Amino acid sequence: MAKMTTQQLQSMKVDGIKISMTTAYDYPTARLVDKAGIEIILVGDSLMMTVLGDDSTVGCTMEQMIHHIKPVVLGAPNPLIVGDMPFGSYNVSTEQAIANATRLMKEGRCDVIKLEGGREVAHIVAAIVAAGIPVMGHIGLTPQTVSKLGGFKVQGRGEAAARALVDDALALEAAGVWGIVLECMPENVGKAITEQTALPTIGIGGGRYCDGQVLVFHDMMGIFDRFTPTFVKQYLNLGPDIVEAFEAFRSEVRSGVFPEARHVFGAISESEVD
Ligand code: KIV
Repeated sequence: MAKMTTQQLQSMKVDGIKISMTTAYDYPTARLVDKAGIEIILVGDSLMMTVLGDDSTVGCTMEQMIHHIKPVVLGAPNPLIVGDMPFGSYNVSTEQAIANATRLMKEGRCDVIKLEGGREVAHIVAAIVAAGIPVMGHIGLTPQTVSKLGGFKVQGRGEAAARALVDDALALEAAGVWGIVLECMPENVGKAITEQTALPTIGIGGGRYCDGQVLVFHDMMGIFDRFTPTFVKQYLNLGPDIVEAFEAFRSEVRSGVFPEARHVFGAISESEVD
């Protein structure tokens, strides 16, 4: 395999080949995603909820993003690595946005960055792209502004709201994004955006007509049990299996079944570790 590029993803859209994307926040997960041949890894600010236990993505910092992007880059040489810009890191000024996007690229070493918002951030996107940094957009349900949206709700219901989302996508395309995440919107809105822009669209609750789909690692593997959105498909239910394994370990430690003779060292050895 070779490093995935935004140009190849664009060709996949043109050729009608669906794109897969998942989140990863650490080295071992990144290695597994890479082995599976998934085209894009998102180091999302969802890590605040899935890994760090917060109830929102709002508190995420640049340092936390860089800390998690680095091991993912090391573990996954083939997929395109998207680094999420945290809330408040790109909406003070275009200078601030360029400086922080540059940090994700230089310190995190991701390939592209992603930020949330539509027409209201188009000028920021244009400035970051002009600085040489590829940008992925994210519209619909934008978790960083969930308080403004009134909760984790489907967006774009009704003609005016649907039109507004299409306009957001077109504005982001004009500003230079290479692709766009469509989160939680009616399927016909995801379809309209996919048809009306040349951008690869990656849906998460964006319907079946998007050019690709993204799922959060912990949701699809059954490790996050606080809530499961409708758009999630669980490919594994690892949580209960992991609990069972911990229980078996605890019980074997207590009963003395573990460790066995093959897990212990003798006094004399030819090598450092037998
Ligand atoms: O942070 C994240 O994981 C995301 C996905 C929900 C697309 O932005």
